[in-house]
Amino acid sequence: MPAKAKKKAATRGRPATKMPAPKDIKNIAILTGGGDCPGLNAVIRGVVRAAVNVHGWEVTGILDGFDGLIEGRTRKITSRDVRGLQARGGTILGTSNRGNPLNYPVEGENGVEYRDVTGTIVSNIRELGIDALIAVGGDGTMKITQAIFEKGVPVMGVPKTIDNDLKATDVTFGFNSAVSTATEALDRLHTTAESHHRVLVLEVMGRDSGWIALEAGIAGGADVILIPEIPFDIGKVCAHIRGRKKTGSRFSIAVVAEGAFPAGGKKIYEKEPGSDGTPGRLGGMGQWVSEQIALCANFETRTAVLGHMQRGGTPTTYDRILATRFGVEAVNNIALGNYGNLVCLKGTEIVCKKISEAIENINLVDPEGQLVKTAEALGITMGRPA
Ligand code: F6P
Repeated sequence: MPAKAKKKAATRGRPATKMPAPKDIKNIAILTGGGDCPGLNAVIRGVVRAAVNVHGWEVTGILDGFDGLIEGRTRKITSRDVRGLQARGGTILGTSNRGNPLNYPVEGENGVEYRDVTGTIVSNIRELGIDALIAVGGDGTMKITQAIFEKGVPVMGVPKTIDNDLKATDVTFGFNSAVSTATEALDRLHTTAESHHRVLVLEVMGRDSGWIALEAGIAGGADVILIPEIPFDIGKVCAHIRGRKKTGSRFSIAVVAEGAFPAGGKKIYEKEPGSDGTPGRLGGMGQWVSEQIALCANFETRTAVLGHMQRGGTPTTYDRILATRFGVEAVNNIALGNYGNLVCLKGTEIVCKKISEAIENINLVDPEGQLVKTAEALGITMGRPA
């Protein structure tokens, strides 16, 4: 590669301006962006405690994700403010998963226009006396964080999503809590399905990945698990349920990921994706599967949609620890000057990966992987077409 091209490749995604040195940092800010998830408050607590106790920094909380930075809505967070926060669901800072600062609606001469307002965010960060920013969020939040980094702001990312769909980290916090909630729901559905000799279908979240459905389905003893990574044959699902009936099992439990779809068919949206890039809202596949089973397997069926129950409430012990470690390590890496990185779990260690690279790859269930094979070995059908 010619020297000029080599230099360009090495500096891709790096800011053109010089960043402040870690020794000059006095005040860091934290925001939570995108959908909420159990463990966000534990991250905030980890960040505040490490910033104050280890580095003697102040912490500014940004309210409602990037909206707070566009509108200048912030509050100071002290060590006292985060007492007992590790056990609380949601985020004390508020969040937003609508409105993208890279394509933000502003009032223009001819009505509403969409503009990149990350320049405004950067000047507000400077005006607020913020020396570095920790952004906790999913891929959408990280794209904005990277844009701000490229404009010269020291940033650190903390990955969050119940969907567990980020390749850079072994696990995201929030996932374990969501799986626990879905497993508990399956345990409850089991007793009612068995008593009424019904087929009960549970629709779970996960967007385009099937991790929640697969893990909860295995833990909760499901008979059918349908995930987006394996487009299903409804005929196979019905045959499996009829087969169970023949051998004396007069009920069945199916877990359907919201993003699952029949082979040759389509995903079902409650709200279709917008032409401006706004993501759609998946929902309805559980009900569709339930109706099909009622027709083809001659069973009474019911559908339960777990929805935002998976996002709310107390985080599990696993998520509290992972979220706390992410928060503490995000602060420690700012102190090391490792700006522009995402804290990730690799094995038992928290490591750093460049945000620009980390957001590129989605973590999907491997249809031929060990976890799917485990489910199938248990006699669970994934609805695989022949
Ligand atoms: O990404 C997290 C998630 O909970 C998905 O599993 C789900 O599809 C989506 O967010 C729901 O988003 P909203 O809160 O906007 O309904």
